[in-house]
Amino acid sequence: HPALSVSHAALLPPPGGPGDAAGQELPVESRPFASYGSALHIALPQAPRAGQLLTLLIDYEAGEGPGVCWLSPEQTAGKQKPYMYTQGQAVLNRSFFPCFDTPSVKFTYSATVKVPEGFTAVMSATSWEKQKDNTFVFKMSQPIPSYLIALVVGDIVSADVGPRSRVWAEPCLIEAAKKEYDGVIEEFLVVGEKLFGPYVWGRYDILFMPPSFPFGGMENPCLTFVTPCLLAGDRSLVDVIIHEISHSWFGNLVTNATWGEFWLNEGFTMYAQRRITTEVYGLPYTCLEAATGRALLRQHMDATGEDHPLNKLRVVIEPGLWGVNPDDTYNETPYEKGYCFVSYLAHLVGDQSKFDAFLQAYVNQFKFQSITADDTLGFFLEYFPELKEKGVDSIPGFEFDRWLNTPGWPPFLPDLSPGQQLMRPAEELAELWAADGLNMEAIEAVDITGWRTYQLVYFLDQILQKSPLPEGNVKKLSKMYPKISKAQNAELRLRWCQIVLKNNLEAEYSKVKDFLQSQGKQKYTLPLYRAMWAGSEATRALAMETFSATAPQLHVNVQNYVKKILGLGGAE
Ligand code: BES
Ligand code: ZN
Repeated sequence: HPALSVSHAALLPPPGGPGDAAGQELPVESRPFASYGSALHIALPQAPRAGQLLTLLIDYEAGEGPGVCWLSPEQTAGKQKPYMYTQGQAVLNRSFFPCFDTPSVKFTYSATVKVPEGFTAVMSATSWEKQKDNTFVFKMSQPIPSYLIALVVGDIVSADVGPRSRVWAEPCLIEAAKKEYDGVIEEFLVVGEKLFGPYVWGRYDILFMPPSFPFGGMENPCLTFVTPCLLAGDRSLVDVIIHEISHSWFGNLVTNATWGEFWLNEGFTMYAQRRITTEVYGLPYTCLEAATGRALLRQHMDATGEDHPLNKLRVVIEPGLWGVNPDDTYNETPYEKGYCFVSYLAHLVGDQSKFDAFLQAYVNQFKFQSITADDTLGFFLEYFPELKEKGVDSIPGFEFDRWLNTPGWPPFLPDLSPGQQLMRPAEELAELWAADGLNMEAIEAVDITGWRTYQLVYFLDQILQKSPLPEGNVKKLSKMYPKISKAQNAELRLRWCQIVLKNNLEAEYSKVKDFLQSQGKQKYTLPLYRAMWAGSEATRALAMETFSATAPQLHVNVQNYVKKILGLGGAE
């Protein structure tokens, strides 16, 4: 099957004017464009005038493209009924419907979706209505880029968790979903509005996806999609929700005009996420969470080399046949280096409330538009003329141009020392465990039962950094802290699996396979396959065995990235 087959196109007569209501049939042609899609050419009978409104009718069928995922019942949580979902970002929606699939173009949409009896359809839309014959009508009344259109059809139900929020999930997960976020979402929205201005999308609902969903969260407007891994039972992974809520302003209202400047979406969103987290949970906790983000950036740059061309904020993505697929550029740099750059801008301003006011003015200035970093930075200098006069854009070593165009570790790091009270005990405990002769008395004196999940994550990242530990230490650690080695929390499981692999703890290799079988998030899957491939004969065999057991469950993009890691000839 081709991803998308266009059967015909017609030019409709202008509304109210004369002409054939069925429209005038137009020739259509598909031309090569890139490895990730082709160009649809429709010949108009005559060249349109500038500003002329044209209505085209395009008949098409979507098949096995990467943007539309068709799941069998076994691939769902309930295992009873099939499920379909779409994931548009970055360039996949072109296999869902014909569109200008670039974030530089925004439009409203409406959709009529007829589904079989026993299924419900939901979309990223400001309004929806169920009509007879199991037909759902959706409308998005605000202009959005193509990548934010999303559809799910499945056996799903909903439960209210706030005045403008409900959770959606398969029936077997709905209780857990409601319990996880009942009564907590509204506060994040209110704080977001206070900081960044009105929430323009009406509702903010959350849909828990099947386990193979490749992302932690996806900010589809009005309806965030999230991995079921967030159902930790203790709200400990709520940072993902705060992140997706933050996209309501940064990304969904003010949008990167090209995927080469993805950091405008994600770097500003990381900053906004941490502003909300600071207001709700305080500075120490926020700094702790930011420190785990910094560790991810460190790991990424160590793995790729600091000078890798993807380790700059502005990435060169040439469109067309020889270009890079934007989805292949995904990494930590736009998130965490982007966060550092926005923090640096705030540092230049020197006053949090002034910088908050700037962010709000920025959103107001560029809402419903798609922009480049030059627009952002130009507006920043205009907003703070005294900084412009001082030439803050060209301070040696911190030039805006260097931030954007030079790969490498961020020249400025925000001060995370307010998190020391939470980080220091974890660092000290990690040092104890890394020692040659273990000082069990000192270790036993540290009580981790009251530690927050992110403190444990931070501790495990320290252990991972120091790994391999001296022979026998990790085995003891595993025994001592079942709370960690038998954790159900996905962030803890990821780190524990990484530690198991780095330390060749064969007795626990099965945990790696179990974890990879239980979910298919890209950010969990790829690091574990990389670690297995970089390890021993035994871990390579484990990788092959795990992949052959789980491949059909994974999103095709993730499948291809794993194939590439395992040398099985996947994505370039
Ligand atoms: N928009 C991204 C997910 C995405 C990025 C999908 C690029 C496709 C292409 C989303 O907002 C995101 O960043 N999710 C993170 C959450 C985390 C940073 C808290 C994730 O999925 O891990
Ligand atoms: Zn994001």
